[in-house]
Amino acid sequence: MASRGAFSNKLGFILAAAGSAVGLGNIWKFPFEVGNGGGAAFVVLYLFFCFLLCFPVMISEIAIGRKTLRNPVGAFNELGFRNWRFVGMLGLFCGVLILSFYNVVAGWAFGYFIEMLFANFDVGSQFGDYIKDITKVGFYAILFMLTTAFIVSKGVSGGIEKAAKILMPTLIIMILGLVAYATTLPNAMKGISFYLVPDFSEINITVIGGALRQAFFSLSLGMGALITYGSYVSKNDNIISSAAYITLMDVGIAFIAGLMIFPFVAFNLGGDMTQVSEPGFGGPGLIFVTLPGVFATLGSTWGVIVGSFFFLLLSFAALTSTVSLLEVPVAYVVDEHKVNRNKAVWIVALIIFVIGIPSLLSGGYSEFLSNFSRIIGVPDVIDSDFLSFVAATADVLLLLGGCLIVFFAGYIWKKKNLHEEIAQGFNGYENSFVKKFLDFAVTILSPVVLAILFILVLLNNFFGITLI
Ligand code: PFF
Repeated sequence: MASRGAFSNKLGFILAAAGSAVGLGNIWKFPFEVGNGGGAAFVVLYLFFCFLLCFPVMISEIAIGRKTLRNPVGAFNELGFRNWRFVGMLGLFCGVLILSFYNVVAGWAFGYFIEMLFANFDVGSQFGDYIKDITKVGFYAILFMLTTAFIVSKGVSGGIEKAAKILMPTLIIMILGLVAYATTLPNAMKGISFYLVPDFSEINITVIGGALRQAFFSLSLGMGALITYGSYVSKNDNIISSAAYITLMDVGIAFIAGLMIFPFVAFNLGGDMTQVSEPGFGGPGLIFVTLPGVFATLGSTWGVIVGSFFFLLLSFAALTSTVSLLEVPVAYVVDEHKVNRNKAVWIVALIIFVIGIPSLLSGGYSEFLSNFSRIIGVPDVIDSDFLSFVAATADVLLLLGGCLIVFFAGYIWKKKNLHEEIAQGFNGYENSFVKKFLDFAVTILSPVVLAILFILVLLNNFFGITLI
């Protein structure tokens, strides 16, 4: 399959898949979801969901991709289940939705890099005006989509892998440095205890749904991104250990991002963590409001260096994710419609950019789009702007997709075939504990629990109905 491209080795795949997983979801979305979900109890649920419920979905996606060497739609065909193509289609739709708004936020992050370069630390307190400035944010969004399309057009091992290899470790080191700094600030401990000391009475279906949606989004699961990436993995690689590394890296980075943000938030709020879920401070603006003020405390030279470098790395982390998001529909168009890769990339990128325009305008520029959920009468998931609405919709679809994929792997494709695929590249799989766990997880644990939670979350998030 040389013409489709392949990862040069196992590390290349892990880094690229982790590059897809690690992005704005970890550093931008995770903290405000935790803030909204009441803190540590959300974190506990999130960890539980990632390691127990999502892990089998991840394995199923990679195995299906490697078995079929196809994009998410073609994969179901290839296995002989044409009727299941809709799951792949759902994934494509989801990927398009996600990239449409993700690109806008990635543009904000890149724009903040420029603001930090010019020592404009006040941009944090003017975040509302910043995202309203359509010329600026529009320009950055265009730039970001162009860069993404350029990398994807270079093919799998050329673009995605190289970027992931250098940038991920740098980002981790930078965050750890900021964690160390964060703990020296006044009120830091109030932030840490909000983040790490759970109050289980906070748990309700909104919090559960938030944590589960976040787990799927953060791990890039439920839309076939890992079916696509799995199709580039060698038969000699161990799918289980690869999935474990990807999950650990993703969860680890989200976790340390939280350790960095919450002391900063507590410092900014003078220790009053009750405001962390309030509009204007919490929600999608959380890191964009909080961090510039913190960088200002480093003084003008260090503030500029650390601040700009941070937002630059965040933009790169976002880029490895936008690349994977674009790769999914592109792989589909190339494989299934035999369109030339280069052409496919630019057309798909243009379409997604256009779909993202309402999200771009929903940061205050358009009254209607900025208050979308309130106006059309659905409950706000986090905020009522169109971007938040699309994000919540896509999240719920990821859940549905994940549930269907794992059900497919366990019951339709049949777990015997799944096991067979996993066993390649894994000596001793036959008698391992992992096999026993997966046996249970793909037939009972993940499909059943995910189906129940999907229904509860759907009713809660979109119809305001709370059953538990
Ligand atoms: N996991 C990415 C993040 O956390 O930023 C977002 C994402 C990328 C979701 C790719 C889904 C996907 F297929």
